[in-house]
Amino acid sequence: MTQLPHANCFGPKPRSTSAICINGLCHWFGKGPTRKQILFSLDLDVLRGEIIFLMGPSGCGKTTVLTLVGGLRSVQAGSVRTLGVEMAEADEQTMIATRRRIGFIYQAHNLHQSLTVLENVRMGLEVHGPEALADWRKRSAAILAGVGLTRWADAYPAQLSGGQKQRVAIARALVARSPLILADEPTATLDKVTGRQTVNLLHDLAKQQHRTVLMVTHDNRILDLADRILEMEDGRIVNETRQCSPRRETTR
Ligand SMILES: Nc1ncnc2c1ncn2[C@@H]1O[C@H](COP(=O)(O)OP(=O)(O)OP(=O)(O)O)[C@@H](O)[C@H]1O
Ligand SMILES: [Mg+2]
Repeated sequence: MTQLPHANCFGPKPRSTSAICINGLCHWFGKGPTRKQILFSLDLDVLRGEIIFLMGPSGCGKTTVLTLVGGLRSVQAGSVRTLGVEMAEADEQTMIATRRRIGFIYQAHNLHQSLTVLENVRMGLEVHGPEALADWRKRSAAILAGVGLTRWADAYPAQLSGGQKQRVAIARALVARSPLILADEPTATLDKVTGRQTVNLLHDLAKQQHRTVLMVTHDNRILDLADRILEMEDGRIVNETRQCSPRRETTR
């Protein structure tokens, strides 16, 4: 394996205000002759409370970045500090503990079909142990109200529309008050209006509660909801657009 130092002296310096700080991140998939480099010396600093969209063509490495930041994959070279924890040096226990502080939202909502909406939201608290579960009903109901699904609390996922299911997934990701939300194409299966409403909601809740969001998206219609848009190409960040006053409007 190619060895690279775990820090890049030219990259961003971790700050107490950083939710994510990536330095010189490289990644390879495969073994032997099929081994292929996917990420090339990536640098990125995401401040706490920022909403970042990560864009780029299929296969450029967006999901790989997300999984490395989320501790779902081990860092091979370079440095990834997630919520102040150096993932490159983290043992399994530390990676699990860090994952528990992150809310994940996937392209497919991954709801449990045999659980009600309220019970699905409860799943977001389960990894946090008995203390978090003590008032699960109250917390789950409050976040469900936040995503406008109170009257669906006792319904099952099969009874919900795609947009409603994705709102349950957002509620599940936010219920534990995770400081960081990692979302991988959460609007991919939604129509234009529902997709925008869903990200609007995520944006509003994240801003109200000062959460950091790193979201992969192909959706050009929601770009105004980001503080910063990063474009990737062939494993590199090739462009960055900072939006001084991101717009938010309610789509009906
Ligand atoms: N587990 C794996 N084993 C081998 N190669 C992989 C693996 N996961 C991803 N890759 C390869 O790494 C590259 C980047 O994949 P990644 O999933 O990060 O892309 P992406 O930008 O998220 O693409 P998409 O927009 O299609 O989701 C692709 O060439 C992919 O085939
Ligand atoms: Mg992907």
